[in-house]
Amino acid sequence: MQTVEKILRPALNDLSPYNAGLSISDIRKMYDVERIAKLGSNENPFGPAPEVLAQLASGMNELYLYPESNAGKLRSVLAEYLDLDENSLVFGNGSEELLSIISRSVVEPGDRVVTLYPSFPLHEDYVRLMGGIIEPVTVTNELAIDIDKLVDAVKQPAKMLIFANPMNPVGAWLSPTELKAILAATHPDTLIVLDEAYHEYASEGDYASGLEYLTPENGNWIVLRTFSKAWGLAGMRIGFGVCSSLALRSALDLTRTPFNINSLAQTAAISAIEQHTYMKHHVALTNAAKQKVELELAAIGLKHAKSLGNFLFFDTGRSSVEVAGQFLKMGTIVKPWKQRGFDTFIRVSIGKDEENEQFLQNLRMIM
Ligand SMILES: Cc1ncc(COP(=O)(O)O)c(C=O)c1O
Repeated sequence: MQTVEKILRPALNDLSPYNAGLSISDIRKMYDVERIAKLGSNENPFGPAPEVLAQLASGMNELYLYPESNAGKLRSVLAEYLDLDENSLVFGNGSEELLSIISRSVVEPGDRVVTLYPSFPLHEDYVRLMGGIIEPVTVTNELAIDIDKLVDAVKQPAKMLIFANPMNPVGAWLSPTELKAILAATHPDTLIVLDEAYHEYASEGDYASGLEYLTPENGNWIVLRTFSKAWGLAGMRIGFGVCSSLALRSALDLTRTPFNINSLAQTAAISAIEQHTYMKHHVALTNAAKQKVELELAAIGLKHAKSLGNFLFFDTGRSSVEVAGQFLKMGTIVKPWKQRGFDTFIRVSIGKDEENEQFLQNLRMIM
């Protein structure tokens, strides 16, 4: 009989499990803590507008039906909200599924793929699974995107350029001028994948979406967004991509499973868009709270990155896993970064005021 390792594609043996973080019930089982601040996964603790929950309740009546494969109603509501062609949209079970769909659709063994480092691990993992070769462009010592190095890397032919703007975990971003420079420098044969998971938080800063600059002259491109962050719907699992052409979108649709977006997720997303002022209000609250947490990090003397996401990335100077373990004992979940060169860094999400305060109190004790 074959061992499991022998029947697997060799690339699979090289992948590590995704660091999905601990849930609230995991912590309750481990420690006797009163209040838990879940600040490890960049969720939006304000959640969606109450009207979204009411719509979900009414959607329960149709759970025996398959969802709309084409997400027709959501497609037209979203296209109108974003003012773009509804045929350019592809939907995923979270934007992470779209990352997988994109790699499965385009990456072949030996393909060169450029990304930023430290990275959102799934930008690398799905590429590796398909046998692609990752070329990481590391941030500068000041934890900013290294524009010169990125320009050099993207000038050379590559199958794909994929990165998050703003970056996860760092929070660094490209200004509109920098973004234009990178897009202009990218080799015309390269598929550009801009992951804008934190777009709504960044929109208040010196940032521009790729959708403002990408044109048919940039060749093939996809801009990814998600309902998991600012829209407060991480548990529903829904994200989307805006594609440069119908041909590209149709290819991605062939790779996805036909009913990948469940009906409640479609209902929730439509309702959330209708309630977009609720989302914007809580984005503003989170961005204001981030400034306060950032000032405290600076006061404690911790090196941290400027961030346009709903999170901050800072250097503890110690093993991130040990420091995160100390936080856990006090009921605070943060994300210890484990990638080489950044394994003393912690990423903390911005939560509600009381959660941020708990994090800061714990941090003062630990440091
Ligand atoms: C940069 C980035 N892209 C994609 C995702 C995946 O988001 P989802 O699959 O929930 O849409 C995340 C989640 O943390 C992220 O940080």
